[in-house]
Amino acid sequence: MGNDSDGVVREQVAYYRARAAEYDRVYSERDDLRTLLPVLDDLPVKGHVLELACGTGQWTGRLAARARSVTAVDAAPEALAIARERVPSPTVHFTCADLFAWRPARRYDTVFFAFWLSHVPPPRLPDFWRLVADSLAPAGHAVFIDNGPGESAGEDVLSGQAVPSVRRRLEDGSEYRVVKVFHEPRQLARDLASWGWQAHVQPVGANFIAGTASLPATPQGQGG
Ligand SMILES: C[S@@+](CC[C@H](N)C(=O)[O-])C[C@H]1O[C@@H](n2cnc3c(N)ncnc32)[C@H](O)[C@@H]1O
Repeated sequence: MGNDSDGVVREQVAYYRARAAEYDRVYSERDDLRTLLPVLDDLPVKGHVLELACGTGQWTGRLAARARSVTAVDAAPEALAIARERVPSPTVHFTCADLFAWRPARRYDTVFFAFWLSHVPPPRLPDFWRLVADSLAPAGHAVFIDNGPGESAGEDVLSGQAVPSVRRRLEDGSEYRVVKVFHEPRQLARDLASWGWQAHVQPVGANFIAGTASLPATPQGQGG
């Protein structure tokens, strides 16, 4: 295995494709994930919603219950097949795409991502947040939840990688590297501010973070 960040990004898609059938177990095994539910209820999810890296659709139905429509994107067709069965709604549309290449065809009131930001290599974060900006309607919000710094203790953190990475193992014993950045809430809010966002990022218990980010309104006649 090389030391290249592109290689890890490809490997994490392979990992989530191979893990799709095992993925939902974490939601039945980890009670603390439920602490995120009331937090999400208080975050501004509304209108037409874009969900990035929807996976098996664990959050998609909750979004759909508050949204006019949900467009949910993920690179793993195996995960999307599970999501389609879990959320068979005429207002929910699933798309298979690589988020590092995908561009939105329209703008959305809410862009939501759960447990995805931690998988974006740090050098790709400015481009990722530009994608979020290009996906948001005026006055729209990005809403996200993820692992926080407390989670690093439970991971097999790899040294000597081009980007922060951990080793994951599937039931069949196969091993994969995935990108994993345990964002510290205050630092993430500062980074987002430096890219022009008004962001609020809070810890949720010891293991999670939740945040919102929006762009200041552009005065009429400016911008572009
Ligand atoms: C930790 S899972 C999160 C799934 C879901 N949001 C959740 O919270 O349960 C990360 C997801 O990112 C997807 N993914 C990984 N690399 C991707 C890429 N380059 N483009 C789109 N999706 C990707 C994986 O297929 C996986 O479903």
